Amino acid sequence: MSDTTDTTDTLVDEILDPTRKMKAVQAERPGGAIAGSNPATLEADSISAWFGDHKVLEGVSLTMPARKVTALIGPSGCGKSTFLRILNRMHELVGSASLSGRVLLDGEDIYDRGRRITHARRQIGMVFQKPNPFPAMSIYDNVTAGLKMSGIKAGREDKDRLVEECLMKAGLWKEVRDRLRQPGGALSGGQQQRLCIARSLAVRPRVLLMDEPCSALDPTSTRRIEETIHELTDEVTIVIVTHNMQQAARVSNQCAFFLAEQGTPGAIVEHGATDAMFNNPQDPRTTDYVNGRFG
Ligand SMILES: Nc1ncnc2c1ncn2[C@@H]1O[C@H](COP(=O)(O)OP(=O)(O)O)[C@@H](O)[C@H]1O
Ligand SMILES: [Mg+2]
Repeated sequence: MSDTTDTTDTLVDEILDPTRKMKAVQAERPGGAIAGSNPATLEADSISAWFGDHKVLEGVSLTMPARKVTALIGPSGCGKSTFLRILNRMHELVGSASLSGRVLLDGEDIYDRGRRITHARRQIGMVFQKPNPFPAMSIYDNVTAGLKMSGIKAGREDKDRLVEECLMKAGLWKEVRDRLRQPGGALSGGQQQRLCIARSLAVRPRVLLMDEPCSALDPTSTRRIEETIHELTDEVTIVIVTHNMQQAARVSNQCAFFLAEQGTPGAIVEHGATDAMFNNPQDPRTTDYVNGRFG
């Protein structure tokens, strides 16, 4: 994006949201870490999605409350990743992709005309299945990598504090505090994934989306990430896709069960409190799925 476009978009954003400048100033104080965290409620309203003519999601509505962990479960191909990508405007990166419906971040539609894509991405972070740190970049620089891209200016001391704080929150600080200048690529898979979580946290997202963040990890690293998720709930709203039912039961407050039956688009069969979804599901398909009878 050219500077000119960026400036224009910034102005448009400011006109649409006069408090924006103030929020940006608040966000530019990395030192004020914990005070700066501000988890938001994310609400999907009648989301349908297509790749070309292929409709892959139909009428998905779901509220993902602030300070809660929402787990998205369901068999492969039912549209969980597509839904997650729609929640932070990554779906539109695919040329053939389209969607309808609204995504509200504390009531504001992230798809409103005039809203910048970067605005949504900054507030709604994403952690992927395969850890993707910048392998040659130091652990320290990996954590601060998002700052510049998000236009956040920080001095050396602020950065030091931010790196420690984010690595701490991601449950990695003790393991790497003595080797912050070593490359991110030298860490184990589980450590790399926690580094990616730290990197996401550094730009103070209000929501963190995680697409099967543990599926490439061993059981010990998986437990470590699950602990991290627990510790983050006061900082950020979490939405996690998982194929592991025990994990969904352990980490989430509420669950949404997605299904795409016989060539129909994916939709939510049932959603609710995690306890109820596992112990007293209302739909027989949910019962079968959570008990491992298919998928
Ligand atoms: N980039 C893409 N281009 C075309 N079709 C896609 C693309 N990504 C996903 N799909 C299709 O969208 C549907 C949902 O996929 P996905 O969201 O990845 O499901 P899940 O994450 O639940 O496994 C599938 O039919 C898949 O083939
Ligand atoms: Mg997926």
